[in-house]
Amino acid sequence: MIRASGLTVAYEDVVALEGVDLEVAAGEFVTIVGPSGCGKTTLLRAIAGLEEPTRGAVLIDGREPAAARAAGNLGFVFQRHTLFPWKTALQNVTFLRTVAGKPAETDRAADLLERVGLGGAEHRYPEELSGGMAQRVAIARALHLGADLLLMDEPFGELDEITREELGVELRELWRRERKTVLFVTHSVPEAVLLADRCLLVDGPPGRLTASFEVDLPRPRDESVFESRAFQRQVAAVRSSLHGARAERTRQRDP
Ligand SMILES: Nc1ncnc2c1ncn2[C@@H]1O[C@H](COP(=O)(O)OP(=O)(O)O)[C@@H](O)[C@H]1O
Ligand SMILES: [Mg+2]
Repeated sequence: MIRASGLTVAYEDVVALEGVDLEVAAGEFVTIVGPSGCGKTTLLRAIAGLEEPTRGAVLIDGREPAAARAAGNLGFVFQRHTLFPWKTALQNVTFLRTVAGKPAETDRAADLLERVGLGGAEHRYPEELSGGMAQRVAIARALHLGADLLLMDEPFGELDEITREELGVELRELWRRERKTVLFVTHSVPEAVLLADRCLLVDGPPGRLTASFEVDLPRPRDESVFESRAFQRQVAAVRSSLHGARAERTRQRDP
């Protein structure tokens, strides 16, 4: 599904990504976790074809990312929702599909809004929605686009912790039913572990993948996972690996 090889993105004064090799299989839920400024957004943007690689390449189902995007086969959810303020929740959900040349399928859009907990709010405008509700609209919109691949860049970043956890559980359930491939960026280690089949650790700059964890927790997962010993062990292991990578980088910089 996604294949990145030797992916390097250099800006004027910083190498944001360096030599990243990454493969994500169809149907996988992969999370990317790392400290602020380590290159997570750059990685997602390069995979979406919104950032031109300095070296290396990205292929999505064997195609250039721009081609996958134009065909409506790539959904993106950003940290801050990017809803059109002059369109209702429902119109926001259907609009991207029509831009991609697909039929609006308004009934299914309303059904998706219902499934993300927004039944009854479909005719409200973004300014009449809370941050959490608007972010749910953005997620419904990405799902309605019908893309097989969802790229999510800290989509819950601005939400309170309880809403985050609830939306995380909902997202996994939607992913399971809709059989999507998801690449999800976060700086929250518990969130990365809760959601993932596989969790990739990034450190930087220059952004590099430093470790990969298979997350072996029961599915489907609900809020009770947070209490389990297995979950807490995984979180501790990821944290310790992140701190290790950071210490190693500091040593290399100031030997
Ligand atoms: N458009 C840009 N121009 C110049 N530097 C950038 C740009 N975008 C990101 N950077 C730099 O690249 C590095 C990685 O940024 P980013 O991918 O946004 O990290 P993250 O999402 O992990 O916080 C940072 O040092 C950041 O300042
Ligand atoms: Mg970012």
